[in-house]
Order: sequence, then structure tokens, then C-alpha cells
Amino acid sequence: MRAITVTEPGGPEVLSWTEVPDPQPGPGEVLVDVRATAVNRADLLQRQGHYPPPPGAPAYLGLECSGVITAVGTEVADWAVGQEVCALLAGGGYAERVAVPAGQLLPVPAGVDLVDAAGLPEVAATVWSNVVRLARLTAGETLLVHGGGSGIGAFAVQLGMALGATVVATARAVKHDRLRELGAVHLVDYREQDFVEEVRKVTGGRGADVILDIMGASYLGRNVAALAPDGRLMTIGMQGGRKGELDLGALLAKRGTVAATALRSRPPDQKAAIVAGVREQVWPLVEAGRIRPVVDRRLPITEAAEAHRLVESNEHVGKVLLTVG
Ligand SMILES: NC(=O)c1ccc[n+]([C@@H]2O[C@H](COP(=O)([O-])OP(=O)(O)OC[C@H]3O[C@@H](n4cnc5c(N)ncnc54)[C@H](OP(=O)(O)O)[C@@H]3O)[C@@H](O)[C@H]2O)c1
Repeated sequence: MRAITVTEPGGPEVLSWTEVPDPQPGPGEVLVDVRATAVNRADLLQRQGHYPPPPGAPAYLGLECSGVITAVGTEVADWAVGQEVCALLAGGGYAERVAVPAGQLLPVPAGVDLVDAAGLPEVAATVWSNVVRLARLTAGETLLVHGGGSGIGAFAVQLGMALGATVVATARAVKHDRLRELGAVHLVDYREQDFVEEVRKVTGGRGADVILDIMGASYLGRNVAALAPDGRLMTIGMQGGRKGELDLGALLAKRGTVAATALRSRPPDQKAAIVAGVREQVWPLVEAGRIRPVVDRRLPITEAAEAHRLVESNEHVGKVLLTVG
């Protein structure tokens, strides 16, 4: 088969569509003929040599895909050849075929195009596992989403609203119109406005019950300041650095929680549990049209370098998809 390989760590130009050995499904795995994959921020880091795949994961880029099952390994009961699926991957999505642990497969939600489905598993699993499973966001609470225009953010905004939360999102002003189309989200232009003040305005001074943060160090102090009493800060990205100063006094006074998680390095049984939760709690919202895939554009996988340039420039809103075949 062919896959995108990284000739040496570097810029988008090191991505190359080349012949590689076909994957074989092991026990408990299925083989998927990839129809599309999606670019995630982590792919840019892996390309640069900063984010090696976890042990046992395929060497190629690609944390999610959609496609058709073409072979089923031993010990797989619930999936059959010919089924259209999407999947959460530890790697290997930028390829014509990928072997996937059965627990990481999802059916394509009714009403969603097979190609668009490629952009759902990573954001659904990340956002649901943090905002719902760990932070227990409930109806009537306020969710602050940083980077509302990111793949993660555009999904989190919709999930928050579908769960009945008030949603506040930070994004550059140029993305606000596109985000307004997703629903009644309160938007903060983080370059011009102070998100702490804006969240307080929206909540009558209370603050956000849950914050989904992708910035890390540079937002740590302000995130704690923006938390409501009993608030939960979930950090999933470190675009603003990894080491910050935490005012434990401020956190303690609010009975706040600060947590950080990474999906990719979770063992397969944890990923399977998250995927099962997504299927049970998120897929019905997608099938009801309350959460839609937000696709900035589709590019052929042979233009993966162009797709990486686009994501690096932050000009996109939602997901950039790579089609295969
Ligand atoms: N821990 C995990 O399990 C996990 C899983 C998936 C993703 N992630 C992380 O989640 C983040 C989003 O991933 P993605 O693939 O969806 O990324 P993406 O689509 O590439 O988006 C990155 C976003 O960062 C925003 N941004 C940059 N500076 C900002 C600032 N100061 N304040 C607010 N937003 C800012 C940009 O929006 P503007 O153009 O508006 O600046 C852009 O939308 C990444 O950090 C990624 O590593 C973590």
C-alpha cells in the first residue's frame, strides 16, 4: 500500500506518499481500507520529530480515519467485512489501509458522509472524555472553550450547547462568523478582549464551571481566575508552554480542580471505554443533527504537505480532511 512517510523530521515538505508494507490485522483487530483521514495538531509535532508514536502504534501519521472494513482478525465479534466505519487510531491513518483494534471502531453516524466521518473520532473522544466523563459538565453550567475555531474547539462548542450548557469560546475575530453558525455561543476575541472579564460578564460574575484549555502555561493563571466555585480546568494542549505557576490559594478558595490528559498514550482498553462512551452519548447527538462535523476543506492525501501548512497557519476552522483513493 501507499502511506505518507516522513523522510526526516522537518517542515511539511518532508511528507511523501510512498510504497510501504501492508498492515496485517492481529487478534482483536480489523483491517480498514481508508477513505479519508484528518489532520490533527499532534501530526505537525510528530512530523517535526517531537511526538513519536506510542509503543506498538503504526509509524505513520494519522490519529483517525474513515473507510470500509476489508478483513477481520480473530477474536473480533461485532464487525464484518464491508461495513463503513470511522476509527480512533494511535497512528497510521495517512495510508491506504490501517489495522485497528476493534474497540476503537465506530459506525458512521446516520446522516454523516463517509469522508466527513473521518474528522469525528479524535475530537469526539477527546472532548467527551474530558468535558463529560472527567469534568462532568451538566445542563445549566458554563463551559469555556479555548480555540473555538480548532477541530477540537468547534466540536466542544457544539457538544456543550447540546448538553444544555452556556458556551463561551475564544477565537480570533476572523473566525467568529463561522462559529456563530454553530449556535448561540458567546465569542471572545482573545487578542482584543480579556477572557476572564468576558466569562464573568456572561455568568454574572460566577465564572466558568468547566474550561477546556489548549494553551497550557500561558493561560494557567487566567484560567484559574476564570473558574467558578467548584470549577474544573481540563488542559489538553500546551500551545502556550508546559511550565506555569499555579496559585494554589486561588484554586483552593474556589475548591477548583486542575487536570491534564492525553488521549493517544492511553492503553487500548481505556480508548475502547472512551469510544464506547462516545458511541452511547455523543453519536445520538450527531445523528439528531445537534452536532455536525465542521469541515474546513478536503484535500487529496497527496497534498498532505499543503494541509499541514494550512493547519500550521491557523487559517482553518474545524477539520482539514485528507481523502484517499
Ligand atoms: N490531550 C489530548 O488528548 C488532545 C487530543 C487532541 C487535541 N489536543 C490538543 O488540542 C488542541 C487543538 O487541537 P486541534 O487539532 O483541534 O488544533 P487546530 O485545529 O490546529 O487548532 C489550533 C487552534 O489554536 C488556536 N489558538 C492559538 N492561539 C490561541 C490563543 N492564544 N487562545 C485561544 N486559541 C488559540 C487557533 O485559533 P485562532 O486562529 O483563533 O488563534 C487554532 O484554532 C491542540 O493543542 C492539540 O494538541 C489534545
